[in-house]
Formats: sequence, C-alpha cells, structure tokens
Amino acid sequence: MLLSGKKILLGITGGIAAYKICDLIRKYIKSGADVKVVLTPNALNFVTETTLKALTRNQVFIHQFEEFDWKPGHINLSDEADLFVIAPASANSIGKIANGICDNLLTSLVTAFNKPVILAPAMNSKMWQNKFVQKNIAKLANSGFFIIEPEEGELACGYEGQGRLADTEKIFKKTCEILQKQNFLKGKKIIVTAGGTKEPIDPVRFIGNRSSGKMGFAIADAAYKYGAKVCLITTIEVCKPYETIKIDTAQELLSVLTQKFPESDALIMSAAVADYRVKEICDNKIKKDKNEDEINIQLVKNPDILKEISKIKTSSQLVVGFCAETENLIENAVSKMENKNLDFIVANDVSQKEIGFESDYNIVTIIDRQKSDIQTTSKMLKTEIADLLLKRIFSP
Ligand code: PMT
Repeated sequence: MLLSGKKILLGITGGIAAYKICDLIRKYIKSGADVKVVLTPNALNFVTETTLKALTRNQVFIHQFEEFDWKPGHINLSDEADLFVIAPASANSIGKIANGICDNLLTSLVTAFNKPVILAPAMNSKMWQNKFVQKNIAKLANSGFFIIEPEEGELACGYEGQGRLADTEKIFKKTCEILQKQNFLKGKKIIVTAGGTKEPIDPVRFIGNRSSGKMGFAIADAAYKYGAKVCLITTIEVCKPYETIKIDTAQELLSVLTQKFPESDALIMSAAVADYRVKEICDNKIKKDKNEDEINIQLVKNPDILKEISKIKTSSQLVVGFCAETENLIENAVSKMENKNLDFIVANDVSQKEIGFESDYNIVTIIDRQKSDIQTTSKMLKTEIADLLLKRIFSP
C-alpha cells in the first residue's frame, strides 16, 4: 500500500471545509497510513470528535493539557509523525503559525514540528486576498511549508472566487509525493551557500551584487525536505527549520566553509561571491570632498573559495559550483568547472531579466565532470530546479 507504515498528523482548523476532511482521512487510511487528528477548539463547530475517532480508529486530540505520558502532548505527537497536514487551514491559524504563536494544541504542535508540513487554506475569497494573509502565506512558503492553494468556485458564504479547499485528491497526491520522496537524502550532510557577498568600503558602504539568495534557499529547502542535514551559509538573514549561518564577506565564507566542509557530504555553492574586495577599509565614513571629482578605491583579489575547498575535498565528497555568465555560457562554465576541480557546475545566463538574479525562475545547464550528460532545463521555478538538481547530483 502506498502509505503503509507512514504516520500522518492531520490538523483541522475552524472552517466549513472541515467536513471534507473525512474523505481525505478515508483516502489515507485506505492507503495504509496511521492518522492522528488534532483539532482546534473552533474546528469542533464543523466536525465531531466521534466521527474522526471512528474514521481514524485513533484518539482525537483537542486540548493542550490532555493526559499524555511524561512528555507533553505537542512534543509527543510531533515526534512520532512523518508529516503534518493542516486542512482546512483558516486565516486565523495561518496567522498564528506564521508568527510562532502557540495558543492551542495544533499551533503548539506545528511550532514543535521539524518535518514537512502541508497547509491547505480555505476561507472567504476576500480573506484569502487580504494582504496580511498573503504575507503570512508567503512567509510560510519561504520557510519550507508546502502550500496547496485554495481553488476558485462557489464558496459557502455565498461568494464566488478563490477560497475553496483544494480537492482532497490533490491534497492526498501531494501527501504521497512528499512521503515517498521524503528520505532520499537521509543521512547526508549538505552545505548550501546563498546570496551575494558584501565587501565593505567603510562603515556604511559595501560592494555587493544582485543575488537575492532565492536559488540557494530553494536548494537548501529541497535538501531539507528530502531528509538531509542542511547547513545554509548565507548573506541574508533568514529563518529556516535547519542550521543557518550568516556571513557578509568572501573571507568570512571561506573561513566558515573551511571549518564546516570536512564534516559534510556535499557543498552546493550558489552564492554570488565577490572576486575582489577593498584593499583598505576606511574606519570612518568617507566624506565628500569639495575639491575632488573622483576618488579611487583599490581592490584586491578575494580567495577563490571553491578552489580552496577542492584542495581539501575527499573522493567521497561532492562539490557543485554555479556559473553566472552573460556570454559563452557553456564554454566558460566548463572552464570554471575544470579550473576549480568541481564535480558539477550549474550554468545560468544572468543577462536575461526574467531568470537568474532575483527572479523566482531560472534556466540552468547542469554539466558533470565527465561532460557526458549535459542537461539544459526549460524556464522553471527555482524550487523545481532545486528538486531536479538534487536528484541529478545524488543519483547513484
Ligand atoms: O540569488 P539569486 O537572486 O536567486 O540568483 C541566483 C544566482 C544567479 C546568484 C545563482 O544562480 C548563481 O549563478 N550563483 C553563482 C554566482 C557566481 O558567483 O558565479 P561565478 O561564475 O562568478 O562563480 C563561479 C563559482 O565560483 C560560483 O559557484 C561561486 O560561488 C564561486 N566563487 C566565485 C568567486 C570566488 N572568489 N570564489 C568562489 O568560490
């Protein structure tokens, strides 16, 4: 059976779509999953504990301080489940989850949960379009939650629009997809770098670049989702359910990597690293001088981080570089791969506005050391590229 041995924690919040979850539970049970349901107090207005108990053949959990063994309930239930599905997710619960509020068993559970979470929102279409709800959804999506967006149609409140709970078949399929792929990177320690380095000029200015970190975050999130122990080294402050280390400069990045790389299985270097840094950083803010129309800032070469890391790499470790080019993409990428002694290089053309830097999309060419299988993607979401890249580099 598709889900046999899998433990699903199913959270139901207060919304009319809660009645549809009985059908989702039947699908899970028929596929062999063990399902435990946790309800917010508001959900009880729409479904009964008796129905859910009968369908799951398990205790139903509602109250935060219900009797458990010595471990508090929110830790106990979150430890044993493989996946948490929250459907329907109300605007109220989404807001609490996005802000770390734990005022009931369901919100406490999700805060303590460090495995994949699927959120299937359902609400009135105006509530769904509300900018705070959308901000909360974006925040959760960026933190690795799987969002199954509501569908368009007739709503229980009489409105037409986007707000209906996604079809339970869609939620079921997403659950199967995540649980089946869940662990292919289990046991691997993967370092991902993201964002553009900032090389200081004086206390207020720096030399930077347009990297938003989106490509690297997508790779780190995907690696985590597939069970890897992830260490994300980034120039941008982010909140992730795995280890993150904030750095600014190329030299700081090299120093963290020198320490972290020996204990890892792979390094994926999507950060945009400055090739040069300022030779002498001014202690004070550089003042505008009335008599000078030009000032000169002398730059010195930064270390080539990948080249340095490749020197300490063992045969069981993988090192993957990215290559940002505006011309002769493949030729330059191959030359960088050879020069830096990489296992793979991922080339992207950063002259195109709608892909590469800052965009949610990219087009990449993945080149292996032997150059035997050069693969160019179509224009895809960076999250999709991350999935494809991890499967490619870790395929046996
Ligand atoms: O962050 P986003 O907005 O999502 O954009 C994604 C991206 C365009 C930044 C990303 O896809 C990308 O291309 N990253 C690599 C950027 C880059 O620095 O490319 P490069 O061709 O200059 O360098 C080649 C490789 O050497 C890179 O892996 C780089 O991290 C590394 N490098 C570069 C300089 C240096 N001194 N040491 C290095 O190790």
